[in-house]
Amino acid sequence: MKHYLLAAAMLTMSLASCGTKETKDTEEREIPETKTLVLYYSLTGTTESVAQELQKALNADMESIEMETPYTGSYEEVVKQVGKEREAGELPKLLPLNADLAQYDTIFLGYPIWYGTYARPISALVAENDFQDKTVVTFCTFGSGGLEAAIQDLRKALPKAQVAETGFGIRNARVSSTAGELNRFLVENGYIEGSVEALPDYSEMRPVTEEEKQIFDAACGNYQFPLGTPVLAGKRGTPDGVDYIYQADNNGTPSTIYVTVGNAPDAKPEFTRVVR
Ligand SMILES: Cc1cc2nc3c(=O)[nH]c(=O)nc-3n(C[C@H](O)[C@H](O)[C@H](O)COP(=O)(O)O)c2cc1C
Repeated sequence: MKHYLLAAAMLTMSLASCGTKETKDTEEREIPETKTLVLYYSLTGTTESVAQELQKALNADMESIEMETPYTGSYEEVVKQVGKEREAGELPKLLPLNADLAQYDTIFLGYPIWYGTYARPISALVAENDFQDKTVVTFCTFGSGGLEAAIQDLRKALPKAQVAETGFGIRNARVSSTAGELNRFLVENGYIEGSVEALPDYSEMRPVTEEEKQIFDAACGNYQFPLGTPVLAGKRGTPDGVDYIYQADNNGTPSTIYVTVGNAPDAKPEFTRVVR
């Protein structure tokens, strides 16, 4: 379907040497409708569940990226295999896409974070497609983080595309919160219409209090990898609870970690992501 916009009467003023000439005209301008594809890779279904939410919210076409020989085995086995492939510089072979990318202006590209960046099947995809002139919006899932690094890597890998600086990312452990957070992301970035309450800025960073340290430990203490010791903290109130931003020291390496605590009296602190 095509949209037509009756452009407001255009006032053209042209200055002539002897005075001012004024012309008015009205035109019908065609605004081409953008076509959107949700394209994703998911090994264990987490990114797929975000892709499905996106597809619903955008009413877009959707396709999953499939490999000729899918990874199999336990989590540890896949981690090992991917590690070997990375060292050897090998890319997995993908099955051809059903979608004709030429038909789309905007691609929402989704992936799990592997080794701190987008998963290897995406490396194979971007080696074969330059996404020239397309808008690429990223979404990802991860154990702890990698949202920022993956976007930076993708911007380098796809210099002919417009890769949006802001992408959507959610921890695998929090994927049940996707719908609300995704809606905020889509509205705030102008991908869908709607309204969301603007969130306040975080307070200034200052030395962490004992209570904030306990919240950090409750959110991060059980994570499979150590996330460091909190040094500084800032916070903000939201309609859903309180968000914290921590500056932590991880064996001499500073890191930024976001934590949220819901309004419910029994709400457990959850870390939402490590900035990487
Ligand atoms: C090979 C491999 C490497 C991973 N590396 C990271 C990582 O560097 N950082 C991270 O936060 N999570 C990492 N993860 C966790 C995944 O990003 C996370 O479980 C994701 O939600 C899985 O998505 P999927 O179910 O769509 O495959 C890794 C998982 C695998 C299998």
